[in-house]
Amino acid sequence: MTFETQPLNTGVGLEILGLDLSRPIPEATRRDLYDAWLDAGILLFRGLGTSPERQLALSRCFGELDIHPVESVRIEGRPEIIRLANRGNVDPIVHYLDDQEIAGLIPWHTDMIYMTRPCRGALLRMIETPGQLGQTGWIDTVAAYDALSEEMKQRIQGLEVRFDFVLDICDMRFGRPENLRHGTMGTVEFGEIPPVVHPMVWDHPESGHKALMLSPVHLIEVVGMDRAEADPLLEELVAHSTEERFQYIHEWEVDDMVLWDNWRTLHMAAGTVLGTDREVQRTSISGDYEMGRLL
Ligand SMILES: [Fe+2]
Repeated sequence: MTFETQPLNTGVGLEILGLDLSRPIPEATRRDLYDAWLDAGILLFRGLGTSPERQLALSRCFGELDIHPVESVRIEGRPEIIRLANRGNVDPIVHYLDDQEIAGLIPWHTDMIYMTRPCRGALLRMIETPGQLGQTGWIDTVAAYDALSEEMKQRIQGLEVRFDFVLDICDMRFGRPENLRHGTMGTVEFGEIPPVVHPMVWDHPESGHKALMLSPVHLIEVVGMDRAEADPLLEELVAHSTEERFQYIHEWEVDDMVLWDNWRTLHMAAGTVLGTDREVQRTSISGDYEMGRLL
């Protein structure tokens, strides 16, 4: 193996050490990286993202890359990379945490869970850190499932849950931050996105692991179960799966890259204090496994 691995501080995810991205990645190394990704779900590459070319070369080790439908967010000449930046955004979505105005806060979620075919994974490369806040966190939902009691595993076996496209995180039904208050919602328009149903427990199609996939931002109800019964169950499961022992929170340095498996993780963006600048660039790995269905 042409790199080393080391568990991240909480034991969730792996840091990749000693990988050389200054030359083409050999096929054997690519396979080892892919296996590490399947094993751990979250991979940190500290300081290795020194150019868009290196980000693309690494991202391509894990599958086909999506081209974002909105051309204005793509970076020039590299349509597979999108820019997520708050500089120049004159009308951002803002929330209050206590009395602080925060832009870009997104609590725990799985990307595109409100679609029948969520993306396979994504890779972020840090371009500009904001000085305070700006962290990204991940949760390994395989570890969260494994830590459930046998009784709870039996109880949730075969359940399906409904996810909606929730734009305002103040509308979250489960796991809403206690000190969160309404700010301004910007002017972004989204079309109608119908509710989608997924299994509560995913059998990961490649690794075979079971993952407790509850995307709290989008979670609405258990299909076919009375809310009086389902809500306490979902509250308990969301509280369990977002415990610190399943989390890795990354304090970014410029040129860090983090890759995650969107089929077995949750992630969150801490957001930035309004008026501070942060930029990351992202690639998304295409998903080809249709786990959900329209309600
Ligand atoms: Fe996300």
